[in-house]
Amino acid sequence: MSPLAATLLEKVNSRRARTGVVGLGYVGLPLAVELARAGYHTTGIDLDERKVQAVSEGRSYIPDVATADVLKLKNDGKLDATTDFSIVRELDTINICVPTPLRKTTDPDMSYIVSAVEAIAKYLHPGMLIILESTTYPGTTDEVVQPLLEETGLKAGVDFFLAFSPERVDPGNPTFQTHNVPKVVGGFTPTCSELAAALYGSAIQTLVPVSSTRVAEMVKLLENTFRAVNIGLVNELALMCDKMNIDVWEVVDAAKTKPFGFMAFYPGPGLGGHCIPIDPFYLSWKAKQTGFEPRFIELAGHVNASMPHFVVDKVVEALNERRKSVNGSTVLIAGIAYKRDIDDMRESPALDVMGLLHAKGATLAYADPFVPQLHAREWPGREDLRAVHLTRGAISQYDCVVIITDHKAFDYDAIVAEADVIVDTRNAIKVPHPNVFKLGAPKPQAHGERIGIA
Ligand SMILES: NC(=O)c1ccc[n+]([C@@H]2O[C@H](COP(=O)([O-])OP(=O)(O)OC[C@H]3O[C@@H](n4cnc5c(N)ncnc54)[C@H](O)[C@@H]3O)[C@@H](O)[C@H]2O)c1
Repeated sequence: MSPLAATLLEKVNSRRARTGVVGLGYVGLPLAVELARAGYHTTGIDLDERKVQAVSEGRSYIPDVATADVLKLKNDGKLDATTDFSIVRELDTINICVPTPLRKTTDPDMSYIVSAVEAIAKYLHPGMLIILESTTYPGTTDEVVQPLLEETGLKAGVDFFLAFSPERVDPGNPTFQTHNVPKVVGGFTPTCSELAAALYGSAIQTLVPVSSTRVAEMVKLLENTFRAVNIGLVNELALMCDKMNIDVWEVVDAAKTKPFGFMAFYPGPGLGGHCIPIDPFYLSWKAKQTGFEPRFIELAGHVNASMPHFVVDKVVEALNERRKSVNGSTVLIAGIAYKRDIDDMRESPALDVMGLLHAKGATLAYADPFVPQLHAREWPGREDLRAVHLTRGAISQYDCVVIITDHKAFDYDAIVAEADVIVDTRNAIKVPHPNVFKLGAPKPQAHGERIGIA
């Protein structure tokens, strides 16, 4: 190990290293808190002044991070934040956690990574460790990040150290959080790996070293593509079951009793969030660059993207049973966050469903305890909406209630008792009921008829 690397290793092991996290979002803030808790003086860098101000005042804005923790670390002098990249001069390590969205053409949008790395490069100094955590295509670390940093004249693996380590955070998961989810780490050189492992090892329980940055990049894409493809498969099964008068939810629940060789995935109104609908397309884009045409990713994407349309078909069917048209009906969307018990609406299928119903002439309202308002710019209806409280009186005012996100806080008994007709896309209502149209299940039977038997 070179003297430069040995010095950094000693600083990391003694907690004297100054650590930095660029991008203080769902991934960056929890990581910054863990590094600060491990004993490092940690500085978050973000362009968003509101986030920087919140951290500087000891406030959390991420549901999985307690304000009490941020406040304590801030008061202990372990955690601070800035919008000014010149702090990089004082840092020994940096984890980059900036967004990696898709362009409209479904090509990777690397602009956030490029601009963050260019800003870091201005102040890069010998002996630093730079770790990319943003989810991205294999090759990003050594094809995009390394050349930008080497424009300084410093060489990766010699003058500074470079690694990739994918983030696996699962927002809203009370059991698995940053510190206890095993962390995959791949360095540009073995020394880079060793230094990155030393840093993470002080804050995260289990490390999984891999041989290169490209393997580490591909691991994350395998994990998320695995989910996207399996969700696509079970969504297709739901479409099939719907036609065949079989309850897909009952099928999955019975299949998952097999103690080996099966893993349950559930159908739903479509993919949401910043990862599963997006990341597989980073992989397919990169694969196409090499002349390889990936088929599973495209097919799963196609099926998953069709689900909001299928939900709208169910709403049409449900209203039709009540001799009503979508045009002119009032529809209450229950849950607009992309998954249960979180406030994140990015890529939420609720917005697609709302847009499609709006285009057919429905009047939309929504209920979501985690999303108090929906701005006009956030959905195709282009009007500001405020969340409705799901009181019994409120529920009965709508022609149809569509359950898109099965938040635990919803009173499903009240919904069943008060709603005229319900479209349930999540199997939130377990007992068959004549007013409940379930995605991927037989049409509800009138009272007194046999239920659930095709
Ligand atoms: N959210 C998740 O559940 C999750 C899970 C695993 C991996 N990831 C990946 O982690 C990365 C970050 O995701 P996120 O959910 O934390 O995003 P986010 O949008 O919550 O946070 C990103 C932050 O980066 C900041 N930012 C953007 N450009 C910047 C720049 N040039 N310099 C400094 N700050 C900048 C933004 O202001 C924002 O605060 C993405 O690649 C994502 O795919 C996310």
